[in-house]
Amino acid sequence: MKTHKKFDFSEVVEFDKHIAMSIPNYDGLINLVGAFFLEIMPPDGVCVDVGCSSGSLLNSFSEMTVGRYIGIDSVDFGENKNFEFRNEDCVDALQKLKAADFVICLFTLQFLGRHKRAKVITELGRLVSGGATVIIGEKLYMGSAKINGIFHRKHMMKKRELFNDREILDKDEALFGSMYCINEQTASDDYENIGCSTRIWQSYNFAAWIIETGE
Ligand SMILES: C[S@@+](CC[C@H](N)C(=O)[O-])C[C@H]1O[C@@H](n2cnc3c(N)ncnc32)[C@H](O)[C@@H]1O
Repeated sequence: MKTHKKFDFSEVVEFDKHIAMSIPNYDGLINLVGAFFLEIMPPDGVCVDVGCSSGSLLNSFSEMTVGRYIGIDSVDFGENKNFEFRNEDCVDALQKLKAADFVICLFTLQFLGRHKRAKVITELGRLVSGGATVIIGEKLYMGSAKINGIFHRKHMMKKRELFNDREILDKDEALFGSMYCINEQTASDDYENIGCSTRIWQSYNFAAWIIETGE
């Protein structure tokens, strides 16, 4: 079998632009996450971004509310970071943290595989057990194969507005064996292990939940 080249985040140029082009309506989600952050993050609280990539979200949040900001990513995109950057695997980094008030984990879980994903869910539950908020975004398989197929095809057509066909097919091939999406019901059952979850956003096969835990 031909050697398969997996998707390598460190090779992505202009990461913020790339993700905004790859996930339709991503900007809308970021605006929403910003609104929840402003309402919920207590001054002097702890905010953690799991899979923070360029760090642009934490950079903007840290300018809005005084607090401790921690970004975790196994890739260092080398951009300016206004926060504590943990350049390591997310499970290792989360295990070193004691508690958090506001946690963001956008489109990172789908790259972990089920065993590491389960560890992250456990760590998030522990981190926020004192009363906090988690926002998780993931690419998922919809419960119905028919709906899933329609979303997938429409997403491919949408991507052709911004990428050429080779770029789309090369990325699709690289994601094979790098991305481990799960069923939406399994994901939402997992979130209940952290706290009380509410779906706040969806675009094609991409969805986000807010998860609250009581004090
Ligand atoms: C699709 S990107 C999403 C980035 C960012 N959350 C956003 O919404 O723009 C996934 C990020 O997770 C990071 N990542 C993947 N596996 C990781 C791991 N095991 N530990 C830490 N970061 C990881 C990647 O380097 C990448 O920056």
